[in-house]
Amino acid sequence: MLEKDIERILVTEQEINAISKKLGAQITEDYHDKKPIIIGLLKGCIPFMAELIKHIDIYCEIELMGVQSYHGGTESSGNVKITKDLDVSVEGRHVLIAEDIVDTGRTINVVKNLLKYRGALTVEVVTLLDKPAGRQEDFTPKYIGSTIPKEFVVGFGLDYEEMYRNLPYIGVLKPEVYNK
Ligand code: IMP
Repeated sequence: MLEKDIERILVTEQEINAISKKLGAQITEDYHDKKPIIIGLLKGCIPFMAELIKHIDIYCEIELMGVQSYHGGTESSGNVKITKDLDVSVEGRHVLIAEDIVDTGRTINVVKNLLKYRGALTVEVVTLLDKPAGRQEDFTPKYIGSTIPKEFVVGFGLDYEEMYRNLPYIGVLKPEVYNK
């Protein structure tokens, strides 16, 4: 049903599995003695975080934070809103933020600064996708799954007006879907 709205697949399910395995191994090595808190940004992080943590073999905590920047549509609103805050303190902790995609860089900068202000020792970012051509604020994630062109993508957590998050791959939406 959803597939008919997809113009082409950018990252396949198999590629996402391989990416998660590779990033998981790197994180395992870098954080083996740090007991990090891995904080996923809802809702887009859900499938990626679930896949990634299977490949992280260290003592770590998992937390979630709700953040919204698009408010529907295909352009970032520039207005980042925290919709669900953390239930735990990050003071004195190593934090790794898990994100679906970094586009303008605004969301991640807001969250990063907030967690640092709250006393996190280190704050790094692991993102499934990076769209560097969309950047409006200087930011380079430490761990990047795949670098993609400046196109609007959906699937594996990424939505268009809250739909398509359940696709098992990353695809480019047909323009007629959002030009309707
Ligand atoms: P940024 O603040 O512009 O970096 O945007 C990051 C957030 O915007 C992501 O967590 C996504 O929710 C959303 N986003 C950015 N690019 C896309 C896209 O191509 N498809 C769907 N959501 C996107």
